[in-house]
Amino acid sequence: MNDMNKAKLDYYVELIEAQLKQLTASKPELQGRVVEAMEYSLLAGGKRLRPVLVLEFARMCGVKKPEKYVAAACSLELIHTYSLIHDDLPCMDNDDFRRGKPSCHKAFGEDIALLAGDALNSMAFEVLSDAAVAGDIPPERAVMLISVLSKAIGTDGMIGGQVIDLASEDKEIDIDTLNILQTCKTGALIEASCVMGVILSGRFDAIPFAADYAKAVGRAFQIVDDILDVTGSFDELGKPIGSDSEQHKNTYVTLLGLERSQTIAKQLTVEALGHLRYFEDYEFLSQLTEDLLTRRS
Ligand code: IPE
Ligand code: IPE
Ligand code: MG
Ligand code: MG
Ligand code: MG
Repeated sequence: MNDMNKAKLDYYVELIEAQLKQLTASKPELQGRVVEAMEYSLLAGGKRLRPVLVLEFARMCGVKKPEKYVAAACSLELIHTYSLIHDDLPCMDNDDFRRGKPSCHKAFGEDIALLAGDALNSMAFEVLSDAAVAGDIPPERAVMLISVLSKAIGTDGMIGGQVIDLASEDKEIDIDTLNILQTCKTGALIEASCVMGVILSGRFDAIPFAADYAKAVGRAFQIVDDILDVTGSFDELGKPIGSDSEQHKNTYVTLLGLERSQTIAKQLTVEALGHLRYFEDYEFLSQLTEDLLTRRS
């Protein structure tokens, strides 16, 4: 990524992190512990890819100041962080580290981690509906955003994917099933991010193009995640390496091998870049898309 685009990415990430900080600033005396846990996981770092996609799609669809939608964009990071807290629990992937720190349940206990995830989930919808109540988003667009986001989380989205992921441990699945698993588990939230950016802009004609881009980049993203579980290091990723094989997961690497996985991730990245041609001024996103292929974290 060139310096100008790097500065733009840093700017987005700063805005997002400031907003996340604000959302967890107040810690009531009796129940403050759960807010501490939410803040702990939210502010532990992370690439902030999903809210960045929201802001950038809004901008590419003509929004002059996407900053005004940072709260709405953060709804994706709230959901994503909730999904990671639950994903790490002993009954799920049983991972002790996340974003370079002990996982939420290691730092706060399983009970509070479970509730922190739940509270982040509901906060996402609070943030979206409050943006409409405050007049920052037209109400009908807010309802569309809530509809897209809730579907992306549910049984045909992230949660559905997690269920297939767990049910597939210790047995062999075919590539079609793995693709469905991925489309739900990670694809749905990435697609929601891109589509929600378009909805914020009101350029509804662009929704299918954003969705096609997201489908390709979302799959490439999970393939790279699976590759990094084998080839990465704890220092780079901030989460345990080898977790997939320890949990007997089906991944792109176990099904296709490293080399073939890399080739497919590359092809999907090229495909994703092609879908960006529908948009104007897509240079930043095209560089970000390419960088996701070679990311080490
Ligand atoms: C990790 O997501 C889990 C997957 C969905 C593959 P990210 O790689 O986006 O994690 P952070 O947000 O940067 O920590
Ligand atoms: C998790 O996928 C996707 C979620 C819905 C959170 P993984 O289990 O592969 O994510 P990591 O590798 O733990 O980050
Ligand atoms: Mg998992
Ligand atoms: Mg995991
Ligand atoms: Mg993984």
